[in-house]
Formats: sequence, structure tokens, C-alpha cells
Amino acid sequence: MSSHDRNATPPEVARVFVHTFGCQMNVYDSERMLQVLTESSGRTRYEATKDPSQADVILINTCSVREKPFVKVRHTVGRYAQLRKARPSLVIGVMGCVAAQEGERLLEREPAPDLVVGPDHVARLPELLEKIRERRRPIVQSDELSVDGYAFVPGRPLANQGIFAMVTAMKGCDNFCTYCIVPYVRGREVSKPMAEVVAEVERFLGAGAREIMLLGQNVNRFGLDLPDGDDFPTLIRRVGRLPGLERLRFTTSHPKDCSDELIACFGEVPSLCEYFHLPFQSGSDAILSRMRRGYDRARYLDRATRLRERCPDIHLSADVIVGFPGETDADFEQTMDVLDRVRFGSLFSFKYSPRPGTAALRFGDDVPPDVKSRRLQVLQDFQATVTEEVLKEHEGREVQVLIEGPSRSSRKEGVFQVMGRTRSNFIVNFAPGQEQSPDALTGRLAHVRIDRALGHSLAGSLLDVEAQGK
Ligand code: SAH
Ligand code: SF4
Ligand code: F3S
Repeated sequence: MSSHDRNATPPEVARVFVHTFGCQMNVYDSERMLQVLTESSGRTRYEATKDPSQADVILINTCSVREKPFVKVRHTVGRYAQLRKARPSLVIGVMGCVAAQEGERLLEREPAPDLVVGPDHVARLPELLEKIRERRRPIVQSDELSVDGYAFVPGRPLANQGIFAMVTAMKGCDNFCTYCIVPYVRGREVSKPMAEVVAEVERFLGAGAREIMLLGQNVNRFGLDLPDGDDFPTLIRRVGRLPGLERLRFTTSHPKDCSDELIACFGEVPSLCEYFHLPFQSGSDAILSRMRRGYDRARYLDRATRLRERCPDIHLSADVIVGFPGETDADFEQTMDVLDRVRFGSLFSFKYSPRPGTAALRFGDDVPPDVKSRRLQVLQDFQATVTEEVLKEHEGREVQVLIEGPSRSSRKEGVFQVMGRTRSNFIVNFAPGQEQSPDALTGRLAHVRIDRALGHSLAGSLLDVEAQGK
């Protein structure tokens, strides 16, 4: 139990700082936390702050997918708890997937958080914070809501809405891949009704967003639990033609649920961007089967081939795990072979990390750490070469770029450049041309000729930029 003193009178205005770990689902949820608090009409008026030392409420939105998340959370709580010295009324909350996984146990060690709230209870934040101020006792709200309990917060733009917005289409996962903790911390698959997804996207577009990313741990399975027969390709077609939408993306897809109909949306829905993140995890059928992934390497390679047939310039990316229990050199070679055949534009690679409660624990964790490290290195070195080659193929091409703002690296060198992304999700840096201020360019579409491929990005020259005020 935490027993620190707090000011007797709560501040009229409370500043909220959110620290986000983990995937896009968490980024989305963090925005909803700020949303429900800033929209709330209780005794306290909440404002977002980017400075934790100024905060009255610090929410740590946690991830438990890999490696010692509990330690990381304790460390982060400890760091922020230092701020209680100067601000005794500070409330620290642990949110997200570690909250769902650990619940009450998070209160056992000092410094303890004041609040532990799982992903399904974001809507209750104002009420829970109010209670903490009244009772000054920690509150834990981390159970998964049943399928009938409606856990989504209808997303609305925050004050600083930019050109990107994420919109959750479904939550949870029913796949139970044997290594993965997500189904335990995020619960069963539940889709948002299609009309609500569409209404939410419309709200973000109305506030200036031009690029939308539809989210779900298993977003391809959107709608399968809904009574009206809408599925993910239907959603893509519906959202894809909303006025004002320039670019549509989605994540994450599962190879077993990646249907021909979904693949057919590429090229058919103009806003749907030529980028597809399709985790394959392993190239070995024996490992895929023990991971309980529900597809084999032939199915994966077939999906990749069909996507490329439909959309030759598509940027394919994936997640891959090395050192899953029982992975032999021959299994690893099969993974390398998939890399060689598919030629991903980018890749997210991880060492297997045993997670509590998951089925793979029974296999042990028998690949020695140095073997895991070596395999990861081999894989990443190979991928770096492929990424470079894929980027090199862009040289001389003209591409459409959505400008995100000043380029980070060039600011350091004192040379002013802007950065943006191609539809296929590669980063492009270029000089904005005379008389163009970075702010005036942010959020606009430009035509850029690619001059040079760098390690992880492209460098180009501006050809023209759309008129302002679009
Ligand atoms: N829903 C997504 C991704 C979930 S987690 C999907 O199904 O693809 C993101 C990635 O973390 C996974 O794709 C996987 O590559 C990795 N991952 C998940 N559990 C892991 C574990 N126990 N050890 C190492 N990597 C893991
Ligand atoms: Fe985890 Fe598998 Fe579900 Fe992805 S599909 S979230 S890897 S259980
Ligand atoms: Fe991590 Fe939870 Fe996302 S475990 S990857 S933050 S769903």
C-alpha cells in the first residue's frame, strides 16, 4: 500500500502526463485516456502536459509482450515516484497490459502506484481518479470486461489533432499463439460496430486527419463476431472512400485470415496504401505448428506472392521470432529462406521470450542465449542488405509524399529539410524549396523525385506540392 500524504484540497486543474510503451493499440488507448479526462465534467478539469515534472497525474501505459515488463514498470513507477517529493498529491497510474496481467500484485512493492487500470476500463478513469482523491487508497480495476460489457471509448480528436489518426476496429485476440500473452491481457476478440468505426473515422477526418490506420491485434477478423455480416474487406471499402481520406492503412494482419478478398482491395480502393504488415514469425513448418499459428510456410509465401501480383510495388513487412523452443539451425535456415524469397522492405525481429501462462512454457526455453543472439544478428544483417536494395530500387522514381514536418537529422546539421512518407511507408527527406516554411508544408502532399537511397530512408528533390488549404 502506498501511504504518502496528499494535499487535502485537489487542484481545480490537474495536468496529465501519459507515458506509452508497446504497440499502436496502446498509443490509441493513451489518446483515449487523455480524451476521457479532458472531456470529463467532474470536479477536476484535466489538461494534457508533455512535462512529467509538471503533472498532477502520471499514467504509465504498459506492454507485457516481451522481456521483464514487470521490472520495467517498477522501474518507471519508481522514477516518477521521485516527483512525489515535490508534489505530494501526484497520482501515478499503471495502465494497459501489465495492469491486466499483474493487477493487485503491482501494489505489493514500494513505491506502489495509486491506480492500476486494465485496457477495458479507460472510460472509467475520471471516476476512478476522483475516488482516489476522496479515499486516498489505491484502486485496482484490471479484470477483462465480458463480451457484453462495452469496452470501447468512442474516439474523438484531441485538441492537437494532426494528419494521422488511428482508429480501433476490434480488440482482443482469440488465436492463442503458444508464445503470446496478448490474448490473456487483451481478452477475447470484440469488434466495434461498423457504423461506429465509420463515424469515428469521419470525426478524425473532420478535424484535419488525412491518413487513417485501422487497428486490431487481429484486424482481419473484424466483423466476424458482429450480427450484420460485415467483414474486414467490407470495412476497408466503406472507410476507404470517405471524403477527405487520402491514405488508409491497417494493422495487424494474420496470414491465416488474410483472404483473397482483402488482397483484392489493393488497387481497387484508391486510398488503401501499398504497405502490408504480415507477421510470419518463422519459416519452419515444425516451429509454426508448435507456435499454433494455423498456417504453414507455403500459405505464407502464397499470400506474399498474391499481394505482389495484385500490387507489384507493395512494401511487405513482418514480425519474426528467433530462438523459439526447439528451433534448430535447419529451422532457422527456413526462416532465412523466407526472408530471401519475400524480400521484405522492413522487418521487426525478436528473440523468443517466455511469457507467464502461455502454452509454450511447456516446451522450455532451450535455445541458448548466445545462439538466439547470433541468429538475430545474422537475420538483421541480411535484412539490412535487402532493405538497402529495396530502397535503391526507388532511385530515379517519382513518388507521392505526405509531409510530416521538419526532418530530424537535417535539423541537427543546420540544413533545413522536411520529411514525409511514401504511400508504401518509406521515409523521404528533401529540401522544401525556396519560400516554403516547414509549418506551411506539414500535412501537404508533394511530388518528389528520389535521388538517393540511404540506409533506412530516401533522399529526394521536390517537384511540386499541392496548393495549401486542402
Ligand atoms: N497481433 C500481432 C502482433 C502481436 S505482438 C500478430 O499476431 O502478429 C507483436 C509481435 O511480438 C509478434 O508478432 C511477435 O513477433 C512478437 N512476440 C509476441 N510474443 C513474443 C514472445 N513471447 N517472445 C518474442 N516475441 C514475441
Ligand atoms: Fe499474439 Fe498470435 Fe494473437 Fe498475434 S495472433 S496477438 S501473436 S496470439
Ligand atoms: Fe504490448 Fe499489449 Fe500491445 S502486450 S504489444 S501493448 S497489446
